[in-house]
Amino acid sequence: MKKNYFSRREFLGIGAAAAGASLAAKTILLAPEPLFASALPVSPSDRLRFGIIGIGMQGNWLLSSAIELPGVECVKACDLYDGRHTLAREITDKPNLPVTRRYEELLADKDIDCLIAAVPDHWHKQIVVDAVSAGKDIYCEKPMSHTAAEGVEMSDAQKRTGRIIQIGSQRVSSLICKKAKEMVDQGMLGDLMLVEGWLGRNDPTGAWEYPPPFDLSPENLDWDKWQGTVPKRPFNPEIFARWRCWKEYGTGVAGDLLVHLVSGMMFVLGWNEAPRRAMAMGGILRWKDGRNMPDVHASLFQYGDIPVYMRLNLGTEMPETYRFQGSKGMLEMTEFGLSYTPQTGKDSSPSYYDGSFPHAMREAYEKKWHEENNPKLGQEPMPETVTFKGPDYDDVKPHLWAFFEAVRSRKPVVEDAVFGHHAALACHMANESYFRQQAVHWDAASKTIKS
Ligand SMILES: NC(=O)c1ccc[n+]([C@@H]2O[C@H](COP(=O)([O-])OP(=O)(O)OC[C@H]3O[C@@H](n4cnc5c(N)ncnc54)[C@H](O)[C@@H]3O)[C@@H](O)[C@H]2O)c1
Repeated sequence: MKKNYFSRREFLGIGAAAAGASLAAKTILLAPEPLFASALPVSPSDRLRFGIIGIGMQGNWLLSSAIELPGVECVKACDLYDGRHTLAREITDKPNLPVTRRYEELLADKDIDCLIAAVPDHWHKQIVVDAVSAGKDIYCEKPMSHTAAEGVEMSDAQKRTGRIIQIGSQRVSSLICKKAKEMVDQGMLGDLMLVEGWLGRNDPTGAWEYPPPFDLSPENLDWDKWQGTVPKRPFNPEIFARWRCWKEYGTGVAGDLLVHLVSGMMFVLGWNEAPRRAMAMGGILRWKDGRNMPDVHASLFQYGDIPVYMRLNLGTEMPETYRFQGSKGMLEMTEFGLSYTPQTGKDSSPSYYDGSFPHAMREAYEKKWHEENNPKLGQEPMPETVTFKGPDYDDVKPHLWAFFEAVRSRKPVVEDAVFGHHAALACHMANESYFRQQAVHWDAASKTIKS
């Protein structure tokens, strides 16, 4: 009597002819793009002079990266904390680099061609709107906005002024995302069924418990201005360093981390819209340090007809991963690699439902199945899993480069204020749903998030 349990091959869901090929995955190393190869040598008069606003944790990285690009130069730095004036001079190796606490001075400076802003989320809107209104192009960090209404104002300002705004979710300039997009555009996923993504951390730094600079004081920091329009609190170094923990200044794990997943997903799939609906759950489960933003946040979105399920967790480390699930296979994407596993969408063995057939019927059914479905001589085996590994590349420099190239060419960037607004809306909807404990939707007519 024939066994009616699965062989390992059957369990893995692969046909006999395909077994060898499918089990042996192929790995291809993605070559880094010759990023600046196309750029012509830049004459000193064509050099782009940029100013930077905010030289904190991200700003110091952007500044160090930007000054390594050809044809660009930092000519002024602004921060409300004087310690970061020193830092900007150290990074640029310009002991006399002009520095200021007032970003307004950079907007008025005719010698500045464009700006980079890496300030806390509650300052993005004002600085971007002021910059483009003053005729400056600006690279502003993610998430674009602190609220949905701010995002509307910022995309309107882009339209009104025609200036270049690029938002800083650098996934859209990553080699991995580009390869994934190419594969999706070629139809390798078939019909898209579902997207999932996750990211987890499990340490105090990952949970934003950063050490404040130990000389910080109201003398070397304009604390009043730092707080912007948020109701004023007494000087508090922890808020200065750990502002992500509070909704008054930050946008939680949604704006800090989910926005990267959403921006990368939008780029790979060629989407540029807000989710239709969102439902989120979570809580402050691990870091009970006085924060008011959740440290675990699971969100389910609907984009068109496609469910998108994203999980952020500051209590368990999990490398950033996406899974794009389609009728022709699955694309798994991490920060450093990409794996595509094709699926035929067909049975690879006689249906196990035949276990419910009497012996003779089962034998007849299986015989017929094999006659009709066994691979024929010369038939193509099922394509194998392909893995692309990223080189030791950096996506911040290509993203900055995309901005500087746009400033020069006046050609639009991928991650402009409309894209940035749509990506940020997913985060705001996830936060609104969490706080309201209700599903929410984006009401395009009133441009508001409604329950
Ligand atoms: N793209 C990424 O991967 C990435 C990574 C980290 C942070 N970020 C984003 O970068 C932004 C900054 O984050 P951070 O961690 O560097 O914050 P941070 O607190 O370390 O630095 C912000 C700096 O901005 C200064 N500042 C605040 N308001 C200002 C104002 N009105 N004028 C001038 N200076 C002002 C502060 O004094 C501070 O030095 C945030 O929006 C964050 O989400 C992006």
